Amino acid sequence: MALKVVIASDHGGVKLKSYMIMQLKAEGMDVTDLGPKTSKISVDYPDYAAKLANVMKQSNSTGILVCGSGTGMAMSANKIKGIRAAVCYNLRSTRLSRQHNDANIIALGSRLTSKKMSLKLVSTFVQTKFEGGRHLRRVKKI
Ligand code: RB5
Repeated sequence: MALKVVIASDHGGVKLKSYMIMQLKAEGMDVTDLGPKTSKISVDYPDYAAKLANVMKQSNSTGILVCGSGTGMAMSANKIKGIRAAVCYNLRSTRLSRQHNDANIIALGSRLTSKKMSLKLVSTFVQTKFEGGRHLRRVKKI
């Protein structure tokens, strides 16, 4: 069965998001784009982070959020119960966000991370398993 991915951005993340949608679909993932469609209209990242987090409550999917830095998206998404969004900026931070924190959303910064690296981070994120054990105890305390 295809891996389910939901993705959203703000205007600053549209370009990177569109590229990733194309690539991830080509890799066989089931990708749902929650908008926006254009980078020409300025939008507020908390609105799109909330939209994605609320969809994730109802579906067992991985979330990808893209803004200029990833920071605003992660801050906003993490206000919603059950969401663990991590700003991932290299392979190590990405692996650890899954292994130790059981992150369910990867937040990327279009101003900080190249297209190629973003794809690599997303594939690392979806392939890396949560280690559980002592990490589960800590995650439960969040
Ligand atoms: C929008 O200009 C920018 O602030 C946003 O994309 C993001 O970087 C916020 O964290």
